[in-house]
Amino acid sequence: MITFRDYYNNEVRLSFDDHPFSKDPRHVWVICRHKGKWLLTKHKERGLEFPGGKVESGETAKEAAIREVMEETGGTIQQIDYIGQYLVEGRKATVVKNVYYAKVDKLTEQETYFETDGPILLNYIPGKVKYIKKYSFVMKDGVLENCMKFLKKNNIQL
Ligand code: GTP
Repeated sequence: MITFRDYYNNEVRLSFDDHPFSKDPRHVWVICRHKGKWLLTKHKERGLEFPGGKVESGETAKEAAIREVMEETGGTIQQIDYIGQYLVEGRKATVVKNVYYAKVDKLTEQETYFETDGPILLNYIPGKVKYIKKYSFVMKDGVLENCMKFLKKNNIQL
C-alpha cells in the first residue's frame, strides 16, 4: 500500500492487490495506449487526463472502463487488465477507483465526447506533469507515477 496526498491535499491510498478497498468500486480510470502512444482525453474543466468515470448501475467496473474509453476517446479496446485500486479520502466523499491498463486498437470519430473534447495522443507524458497547468489534477498525484512504475516493473508491453 502506498499513501500520499493529492493536489487538493486529500489522502490517497493506492494498492496493486486485488480490489483491496472495494469489490464493487464506483469509479474507474484507464491508462490507455494506442499505436505506440498514450491515449488521453481533454476534460472540458479538468484538462488532459486518462479516460475514466463512474460505474453506472447494472454495469461491472470493467464494463464501465470500456464504455468510458469509447465515450471520451472513441477508442475500441483490444485488451484491458486490472492493475490496481485507489481510495481518495475527499472532504465530502470517499472515492474508490479501479485502475486498468488498456490497449486501444481503433479510434472512431464520435459525434459527442460527453464532458470531454475527445482523444489526445501523446508520445510521452512529461515527468513534470504536476507543474503543467493543462493537465488534470487526477494526473498530479502519486497514482500516475506509481502505476507507470508498476507497468515497467512487471514488464508490461506498452
Ligand atoms: P459529480 O458527482 O459528478 O459532481 O463529481 P464530483 O467530482 O463532485 O465527485 P466524484 O465522486 O467524482 O469525486 C469526489 C471528489 O473525490 C473529487 O472532488 C476529488 O476531490 C476526489 N477525486 C475523485 N476522483 C479522483 C482521482 O482520480 N484522484 C484524486 N486524487 N481525487 C479524486
